[in-house]
Amino acid sequence: MARKSTILSCLIALTASQAFAIGETITISTEDVQLVYKVDDQNKLRQCYFGASLHDDAANVQMTKNDAFPSFGTSYVNEPALRAVHADGNTSTELAYVSHTTAEEADGVQHTEITLRDTYFPFDVVLCFNAYQKENVIEAWTVISHNEKKPVMLYNYASSHLFFSEPTYYLTQFYGEWADEMKMEEMQLTRGKKVLESKLGVRSNQHAHACFLLGLDAPAQEDAGRVLGGTLAWPGSWNLTFDVDNLENLHVICGINSFAGQYSLAKGEKFETPRMLYSYSEEGTGTITRNFHRWAKKYGIWRGDRTRTTLLNNWEATYFNFNEEVLSGIIKDASDMGFELFLLDDGWFGTKHPRNSDNAGLGDWQVNKAKLPHGLGFLVEEAAKNGIKFGIWLEPEMVNPASELYEKHPDWVITQPNRPLDLSRNQLILDLSNPKVQDFVYSVVDNTMTENPGIAYIKWDCNRFVTNSGSFYLPAEKQSHLWIEYVRGLLSVFERVRAKYPDVCIMLCSGGGGRIDYASLRYFDEFWISDNTDAYNRIFIQWGATYFFPSMALASHVSVVPNHITGRTVPLKFRFDVAMSAKLGMDLQPKDMSPEEKEFSKNAIQEYYGIREIVQHGDLYRLLSPYESVRTAMMYVSEDKKDAVVFTYLLDKVINGGNNQVLYLKGLDPEKRYRLNELNKAPNTYSWFTPLEGKSYTGAYLMEYGLRFPMYNQYESKIIRLTEE
Ligand code: GLA
Repeated sequence: MARKSTILSCLIALTASQAFAIGETITISTEDVQLVYKVDDQNKLRQCYFGASLHDDAANVQMTKNDAFPSFGTSYVNEPALRAVHADGNTSTELAYVSHTTAEEADGVQHTEITLRDTYFPFDVVLCFNAYQKENVIEAWTVISHNEKKPVMLYNYASSHLFFSEPTYYLTQFYGEWADEMKMEEMQLTRGKKVLESKLGVRSNQHAHACFLLGLDAPAQEDAGRVLGGTLAWPGSWNLTFDVDNLENLHVICGINSFAGQYSLAKGEKFETPRMLYSYSEEGTGTITRNFHRWAKKYGIWRGDRTRTTLLNNWEATYFNFNEEVLSGIIKDASDMGFELFLLDDGWFGTKHPRNSDNAGLGDWQVNKAKLPHGLGFLVEEAAKNGIKFGIWLEPEMVNPASELYEKHPDWVITQPNRPLDLSRNQLILDLSNPKVQDFVYSVVDNTMTENPGIAYIKWDCNRFVTNSGSFYLPAEKQSHLWIEYVRGLLSVFERVRAKYPDVCIMLCSGGGGRIDYASLRYFDEFWISDNTDAYNRIFIQWGATYFFPSMALASHVSVVPNHITGRTVPLKFRFDVAMSAKLGMDLQPKDMSPEEKEFSKNAIQEYYGIREIVQHGDLYRLLSPYESVRTAMMYVSEDKKDAVVFTYLLDKVINGGNNQVLYLKGLDPEKRYRLNELNKAPNTYSWFTPLEGKSYTGAYLMEYGLRFPMYNQYESKIIRLTEE
């Protein structure tokens, strides 16, 4: 009887709202893009349009049958965005429209919430959107909650579902491995599913990045064509599914990877999924890049309006093998060369288990007095005396079994009971689902900072992914929550660190680029994209990364040759010319440089300061892709279009006549005249750019006729500065 009356009241409620809502149009709009939903006569929310803005005509799009958020059991698609088992064991969910709100926020962000409710259960899914007007970025996520008598088990809980109906779809994925990140590969989608994912939990970008480009009806091009770009803001396991159904429609379902991660949702609890960021353009991937960069600088990274400092890092210079004298020497050399900060890497800590290699000491964040008898404070002072700042490496989420921390707290690590410890880089992950561990991780940062006043920079590392995913803290029935609780714990520590240390510059690092995402970057000034510092490889790695993440945050270091990872030898100029196209740094022992190399470096660093504002705050335009030609080129243009800087590199020798590919510049003001000057000139070599040196041309000429000069030799490079006359 009780059940009957519930059904009746649901029916009445639905009938009332149905009458009100049928045909209702809900539009998520930026300046150039619209996502349009409509409520049909069954009170279901349908996605009716996604593409270039239709302006006031959005309401005139036709009704479709495309479920806005397909849920298992009642939606006719292959892959659900949502799968829940309700308190009574019912495995299906049927979502109907209830209401929506849109609020215009002052700073150009339109926030929309669409509430959907199960037609029987008191179970809600709120589809949330932030539409960034000027940046043309749409952020999508969901909030799931219920009022059922017992917990509801969530098996699939996507952040977003988008629907496309096109003749063809071309997906570009970004994948890699340690020292080989952000490689790009495009493929045409065929019927069935293509799943990009990570199940690694932590360091979850080690094998692939939660980023994609989707060319609609044509492969993605740089300056033309309809393209969607997407990236998930979540430093845990993720899943981007592209499902071409029986009618050749494409469903894009993005969110946390829920594999082995079913979540028991308590009555009244709100489950918020991570933000999925989209940018759509009808003018190709270049616009998408600039949209993401502009968005990131305003909303996505910590202090995106501030210019980033140059630094010298001692990792490749010394590895674990240093003492006060060695470091003092490097600090002095860094300052003499013109760097602004010295970053002390791994190996400075551990007493009972000194960190002299990667097999001991992680977790014991007390200075190793054998190496640094006067502590970190001495080095901070040394840096200050030399007029530069000091930074420090931390890996606070991790522990070596050979550590006092592990001896004291063996139950703080992620592992399964009754299984041998599964070490990776000789280390284990601390269980951040445990609030005590969160406090500890926070205290590592806090103690280091308070005990050593003056530290201006932290490199936050994270060198392994999850295996044996057990938590001693979580109860047996919530072991599958670890993937989510870890990330929640991590983000809450980031939040606390930032609340207390807003002015410290923090670099996001994870064995290179194993953790690059916009949930983390909200708290970080910059990131380390790869341990591979070989400039040749970096051209490709940085090319991929900058589709989504801005160059101002991408640390790029000049290191020694032969490169420690690849063995390749390339000219110092080439190494600088690559590093200067992002955030310049250095990772070598200056003592090993010749006076000429030091002089060249000194000059290059000064040249970087001259273009730093353009590189870090300007708009990126890609000219020639390293995936398509032997010569590659890109450029930055300042917002007022008065300044620009072009980078071009030759990847292989071109024997007969050299490479004569024209650089058709982009993004300039056609009316303005720009003077051309080469930077970082290679000493004692003829420059084929010389005939153009000091000349000035209109933006129209440079964009239509282009820059024409040959390049001959492998690893030849040029930086050309454009200044408005
Ligand atoms: C990781 C980082 C490196 C370096 C080492 C130190 O591999 O990516 O840059 O900091 O750890 O152990």
